Amino acid sequence: MLKVKPISADRLPDLLRLMPKAELHIHIEGSLEPELMFALGQRNSVAMAYPDVESLRSAYVFDNLQDFLDIYHAGTLVLRTEQDFYDMTHAYLARAAADNVVHAEIFFDTQTHTGHGLSTDIVINGLHRACVDARAEFGMSASLILCFLRHLSEDEAFECLEQALPLRDKLVGVGLASSEMGHPPEKFARVFARARELGLRLVGHAGEEGPPAYIWSALDVLKVERIDHGVQALKDPALMARLAKDRIPLTVCPLSNLKLRVFPTLAAHNLGRMLDAGIVATVNSDDPAYFGGYINQNFTQTFAALGLTAQHAYQLAHNSFEASFIDDTLRRQYVDRLTATFESFN
Ligand code: HPA
Ligand code: ZN
Repeated sequence: MLKVKPISADRLPDLLRLMPKAELHIHIEGSLEPELMFALGQRNSVAMAYPDVESLRSAYVFDNLQDFLDIYHAGTLVLRTEQDFYDMTHAYLARAAADNVVHAEIFFDTQTHTGHGLSTDIVINGLHRACVDARAEFGMSASLILCFLRHLSEDEAFECLEQALPLRDKLVGVGLASSEMGHPPEKFARVFARARELGLRLVGHAGEEGPPAYIWSALDVLKVERIDHGVQALKDPALMARLAKDRIPLTVCPLSNLKLRVFPTLAAHNLGRMLDAGIVATVNSDDPAYFGGYINQNFTQTFAALGLTAQHAYQLAHNSFEASFIDDTLRRQYVDRLTATFESFN
């Protein structure tokens, strides 16, 4: 690992912004800003629950994950056409590129939208076209991870996977999202085994609000390769040792954890302790339109709150490429760009 020269706290935000990074935990529906939501509502003649952007934004106060999921779900009602999915994804990718995200692995779900009468191909084709265009327009790579909704049944997850199979080549993997408590990973053992047979990469939300046991079963029953959130792992030293030894990445989302009251303050966040324990942690935005910040705001606010250093910044960006589902040639190129950015920064 590069030994990074010390950088003063006032220069750190510039470095955090400039450094190339991968974003691995972003729900595209959670990137839908109120302005675009209202524009799409108007385009599709969908009645809005709030009279204007300001009153909608002021409703974004949450006590827990479920509180958020209810509002988040209501926001997806404006999405009706392939172009809507394209526009939402294009807006995210443009915003991410401005934060020097050079690679994004984007979560989406189809069950929300098929539940509104849309077909799976409208969703996936719109998202995929935006990912393809981002290569030429922003010089960034992007891929798609289909998340099953864990508050629904495994049979419904199977149906969702079946509907996505004609578009298999547009997906890099599958994940598990939505209400965690009461819906342990093992509920989805068979559908993850099927996805694995199909050659899809596997990730899953675990240990956001739920116990360390959910992280164990995501690893040992679902055989996921990354854990999304995973912040509850610190309660279980044996689990921490396992995550470090097997280099299982955690996609951590500090501002999400703050907004959903997983931690009372950013200063109480355990990201620094994870890095100290040798965990392959990364920083991500989760649902940036709802949680008050894109990836750089997650970096800068968390670094300020925890007193993290330029060495931590290099480690986190390096981790993001290590944890990415990209080929090793591209990984090396991104890591070389990262190292060059640090070596030339002064
Ligand atoms: N957790 C679970 N499901 C989600 C989240 C999250 O943070 N964001 C969008 N769906
Ligand atoms: Zn998430």
